[in-house]
Amino acid sequence: MPHTARFTVDPEFTVGEVDPRLYGTFVEHMGRCVYTGIYEPEHPSADAAGFRTDVADLVRELGTGLVRYPGGNFVSGYHWEDGVGPAAERPRRLDLAWRSIETNQVGTNEFLTWAKEQGLDPMMAVNLGTRGIDAARALVEYCNQPGGTAWSDLRIKHGYSAPHDVKLWCLGNEMDGPWQTGHKTATEYGRLAAETGKAMRQVDPTIELVACGSSNAAMPTFGTWEREVLEQTYDEVDYLSLHAYYEEFDGDRASFLASGAHMDQYIRDVVATADHVRAARGAKKHIRLSFDEWNVWYAARFVGERNLETAETPRLIEDTYSVTDAVVVGSLLITLLRNADRVAIACLAQLVNVIAPIRSEPGGPSWRQTIFHPFAQAARFATGKVLRTEVTGSRIDTERHGDVPALDSVVTYDEESGAVTVLAVNRGQEESLNLRAELRGALSGYRVLEHLVLADQDPDAVNTQAEPDRVTPRADGGAEVSADGALEARLAPVSWHVIRLVPGA
Ligand code: AHR
Repeated sequence: MPHTARFTVDPEFTVGEVDPRLYGTFVEHMGRCVYTGIYEPEHPSADAAGFRTDVADLVRELGTGLVRYPGGNFVSGYHWEDGVGPAAERPRRLDLAWRSIETNQVGTNEFLTWAKEQGLDPMMAVNLGTRGIDAARALVEYCNQPGGTAWSDLRIKHGYSAPHDVKLWCLGNEMDGPWQTGHKTATEYGRLAAETGKAMRQVDPTIELVACGSSNAAMPTFGTWEREVLEQTYDEVDYLSLHAYYEEFDGDRASFLASGAHMDQYIRDVVATADHVRAARGAKKHIRLSFDEWNVWYAARFVGERNLETAETPRLIEDTYSVTDAVVVGSLLITLLRNADRVAIACLAQLVNVIAPIRSEPGGPSWRQTIFHPFAQAARFATGKVLRTEVTGSRIDTERHGDVPALDSVVTYDEESGAVTVLAVNRGQEESLNLRAELRGALSGYRVLEHLVLADQDPDAVNTQAEPDRVTPRADGGAEVSADGALEARLAPVSWHVIRLVPGA
C-alpha cells in the first residue's frame, strides 16, 4: 500500500495573516557573521562603506525582511557607544560571550545604514546583562530622536542626520541562561526589563518591545520563567521571545526530521503560559511571540566558549548543512507559519557564516547553503493568509517526539492575487508519500502553476565552496489537480516541496 496523507484546503478556514517579519534573520557580532561575512573592506566586491556586495546580493535573494542585531550573547557585554563615531578611535574590546576581539569597526550606524540599503527592518537588542536603563534609553534617543538633544545631536555629528527610526527592540538576550554575562533570576530580569522598556518608550512611544522568554524549552526554569517575567512586564511589552536549535542526536534521524513537532508544542506551551498571565491579570492584550532564534545547529560539535582562543574573526559554528537539514528547516518554517495567529516575528539564526544560510570566504566567494532554499522560497511564495490544514494518514513513530504525521504541511492564500502556496515535507526516510488535498470553495478550478522540490538521492549532500550548487531546488515535482478537484503529488523520502496553485484551467 502506498503511504498517503490527506487534508482539505478551504479559504474560509484561516489561521491568521503571514506577518512578513516571520521571515527575519539575525546578525550577531560573533565569529565571521559581521567581519568577513557582511563586512570586509578588503574584499573585491566591497562597496564604499566596506560591505560585501556579493553577500548583500544573496541576502536580498534570501528574501528576509527583518534582521536582529547585534546579539545574541554578545549584546550582554556590549557598549554601543564603542561602535559609533570615528572608526579609527573606536576601542578594541574583549568580547566575553565568544572570547573574541571586537574591533568595533561596524557599529549601530554602519549596520543600520546597510540594513536599510538591503530593505531590511532592524530589530535591535539592548544590553541588560552588564548594563541597564540608562544605556538603553540613550541608545533609543541616539537612534530615533530627530535632533536637539545630546544623544541625537551626537548621531548627527557622527554623520547621520536622519534618525534611524528603529521600531522593534529586544530587552536583553537569553537572560535566564547561566552562560549569559549578567544572568538574572526571573524576578531580577522582569523588574529590570519592565523599567527599561518603560524608559525606552518614554523616549519613543512608537517602539515595540520584546521580553526574553526562556533560552530553550529544556531550561529548568521553562514555564516558570515566562510566567514570572510576564507578571512583571505584561503592560510594557508586546512580544515574548522563544529560541530553539535542533540537531540530529546519535543517528536518530526520524526524531530530527520531526523537530517541528517539538517546536509546535513549545509554541503552544508559551502561548498557554502567556494567556494564563493575561487571564490572571484580567488584561485585554494578547502577548504575541517572537521566535527570534531558530535553526538547525550541531551544537554538540561545538567545542564551547571556554576553549576558544581569543581572535578577531574566529571561525565559530560554521555548520555546513545537508539536504536533511534543509528539509528540517522547511518543516520548522511550516510550524512557524501554522502558528501565525500568535507567532508574529521569527529570526533564522544567523544570516552569514555562523549557522547560516549564506557562507562566505575572506577574499573569496559566497554561496547558498542548502537551508537557503526553503527559506527563500517560503519568504517569496508563502504570503497572505495561513489556511488551516488538518493532516490525516500515514504516521511515523519517533523516539524523542512520539507519533508524528509523515506529512508536514501548511497552505497560504494570497487573496489579492488569488495565489495559493502549499508547503510540504515528507518526513519519511524510506517511502514516497502520496499527498492528496481536497480544494474547496473558491479554490475549486485551481491548477498547479509549478511544483518545486528539494530532495536528493543522498540526503547528506551539501553545498560547499568547491560545489556551491550541488543541492538546488528542481521544478519537476509533477503535482496535478485531479478531475475530482484534489491536489495530488508524490513526495520522495526526506523532501521539501513548494506547490503553487493559481485559478484557471
Ligand atoms: O546564535 C548563537 C547564540 O545562540 C546566540 O548568541 C545566543 O543567543 C544563543 O544561545
